[in-house]
Amino acid sequence: MTRIALHLESADGSTRTLQAATGRSLMQAAVAAGIDAIAADCGGCLNCATCHVFADPAWAAQLPPAAADELAMLGMTAAPREATSRLACQITLVPGLDGLRVRLPATQY
Ligand code: FES
Repeated sequence: MTRIALHLESADGSTRTLQAATGRSLMQAAVAAGIDAIAADCGGCLNCATCHVFADPAWAAQLPPAAADELAMLGMTAAPREATSRLACQITLVPGLDGLRVRLPATQY
């Protein structure tokens, strides 16, 4: 197991950096760290869209492409979808994502 750094920028502009284990999802790491902006109501079953994040443009292309079911759920986010919108439960943390930076929406509801 490797630990990587994740930078989560809140809607108020503050940034929190986490050290997270690889192999789990970005959503799981954020929830474990008590990040309130990630609600993750469905627990990662891809049916709530309350784990919405905006990937930093510099990182977006380094994430695996969203599958069709993730793209469909991205149409149901509370905050308006942006070009780099992703669902955090669908991003598995791997060593290559060390330093990943995402922005959190102001609301998930
Ligand atoms: S946690 Fe529900 S869609 Fe990601």
